Amino acid sequence: MTAVPSLPRLEPVLSGPPVIPVLVLDDPAEAVPLARALVAGGLRMLEVTLRTPRALACAEAIAAAVPEAVVGLGTLTRPEHFAAARDAGARFLVSPGLTGALAEAAHATGLPYLPGIATVTESLIAREHGFFEQKFFPAGIAGGAPALAGFAPLLPDVRFCPTGGIRIDHVGTFLALPNVFALGGTWLTPPALVKERAWAEIEALARTATAAAAAAVQST
Ligand code: 3PG
Repeated sequence: MTAVPSLPRLEPVLSGPPVIPVLVLDDPAEAVPLARALVAGGLRMLEVTLRTPRALACAEAIAAAVPEAVVGLGTLTRPEHFAAARDAGARFLVSPGLTGALAEAAHATGLPYLPGIATVTESLIAREHGFFEQKFFPAGIAGGAPALAGFAPLLPDVRFCPTGGIRIDHVGTFLALPNVFALGGTWLTPPALVKERAWAEIEALARTATAAAAAAVQST
């Protein structure tokens, strides 16, 4: 097999605790105070998902108004999403899975990219495409922390960011694994709190996650 190029890694770009809120946003006016609340709670890595018509505008608004945030774009499921994400200023990219066309589009951006994998075979395929950092998704039903612990001796050169079904109680367990460099999820931005614009409560959730990550990193 011919060598494939490697993209820059996300791990060195991580700013603050290795906890990445996964955001579903469609209103730039709501996106900015939400991002400010998360940053105030200590979380700077923000993944805005392409699940709404105005997701790109939300990502651009956060990047412009909240310079402490490192804004990435996720749920990239079509090749054309990649150039759009790069053009919107995304600092990192995430997909729930991987295809050959997505791999090619990801390489063309030159940005850190986490393709989604749920099994050893999928991880091997992603590694063959040159991706050594991968999203383990959906972590909860794909075997959780025990599954990732099982991957470690088989895939010593692959680092994972689990998402999907992760809540505050799981932060310590996942971050204690040697092959986990970060984790993410939507639990930090419950839709009911976002709807009520309960920014102080969201900041408190972020603060709790920041403390849990700090405790986990300290004990490893
Ligand atoms: C993702 O795209 O990573 C998931 O939607 C996050 O899953 P969660 O909603 O269970 O956190």
